[in-house]
Amino acid sequence: TQAVGLVGWRGMVGSVLMQRMRDENDFSLFEPVFFSTSNAGGKAPGWADGAGPLQDAYDIQALAKLPIIVTAQGGDYTSAVHAKLRAAGWEGIWIDAASTLRMADDAIIVLDPVNRPVIDAALKRGVKNFIGGNCTVSCMLMGLAGLFNQDLIQWMTSMTYQAASGGGAQHMRELLTQFGLLNSAVKGLLDDPASAILEIDRGVLAAQQDPSLPAEHFGVPLGGSLIPWIDKDLGNGVSREEWKAEAETNKILGRGAAFGTEPTPIDGLCVRIGAMRCHSQALTIKLKRDIPLDEIDDIIAQGSKWAKVIPNERDATMQALTPVAVTGTLDIPVGRLRKMSMGPEYLSAFTVGDQLLWGAAEPLRRMLRISLG
Ligand code: HSE
Repeated sequence: TQAVGLVGWRGMVGSVLMQRMRDENDFSLFEPVFFSTSNAGGKAPGWADGAGPLQDAYDIQALAKLPIIVTAQGGDYTSAVHAKLRAAGWEGIWIDAASTLRMADDAIIVLDPVNRPVIDAALKRGVKNFIGGNCTVSCMLMGLAGLFNQDLIQWMTSMTYQAASGGGAQHMRELLTQFGLLNSAVKGLLDDPASAILEIDRGVLAAQQDPSLPAEHFGVPLGGSLIPWIDKDLGNGVSREEWKAEAETNKILGRGAAFGTEPTPIDGLCVRIGAMRCHSQALTIKLKRDIPLDEIDDIIAQGSKWAKVIPNERDATMQALTPVAVTGTLDIPVGRLRKMSMGPEYLSAFTVGDQLLWGAAEPLRRMLRISLG
């Protein structure tokens, strides 16, 4: 069996990745070599029978011995190590989830239920860098694969409702800390059924605006609020998260200038909300032609094994189309499907996905299996 180097397996994405790989018995297919950026020489995780001690994740010689490296350590690690490893002559397969290499010409963005042909063609021509996509893009595509693969979308807007986990573990903690402090600020009033709601509201606002409310990770309060900007300011009115939607979707699908075809325009606003780990998005889709809704349902449901059409009804929507319903599952429900008042070619949709699963860990473990042959 081949050896596979694993880096960043202890963090949030890494832990989800390890759990999924254990659930799917992936470890029976290769010999894991665990690396650490901080604890070289320490013990491999207890569940990894017979794995040797942790190796230094910055030791280029040690990394270069491995035919495949999978990392969930993050973009700074990829920036620090990947180029050095290639410069040292390493020709192995690199699989990671960071945005660092995603748009590079010699890298493929992996989402195999949607772009397996793109991946297979890349492997054949010797591509060695396989990178998981942005979480919002991957979750959207897992829901709408059917419509994209049948080339039915002329353009699309995507208005997102992104969870705290997209920022990282510290962001999730900060959100919950904020919620807790907001609750404590008005607890007495809340417990008293006779208290005035506007007094409670004033108390919450005072706590949100209090400079001592912990907000170092998000920069401003998120609990009881929202933040309509995610990632860097590109200086042209577009956030980097918004830019990724069109750039990455087209690259995943093998479309756009680099492939000699027209890209599909995708644009919208990305918004951080106080959900834990599911990204949701409201989509407006301009179809290339007027397709009946029942056909659209079938196309979406057949687009991937995980896409689930939710009837566009109140109860079904409330039960199945929320972060609470989806967290911890691989399902990508797609609902609120209806033709809009602008015309029969305008389709609305709403989709939810666990950003730690399809948005981060799952495409990596599947790419590892593909690489192992
Ligand atoms: N950039 C995403 C977010 C996370 O902040 O929600 C990972 O792709």
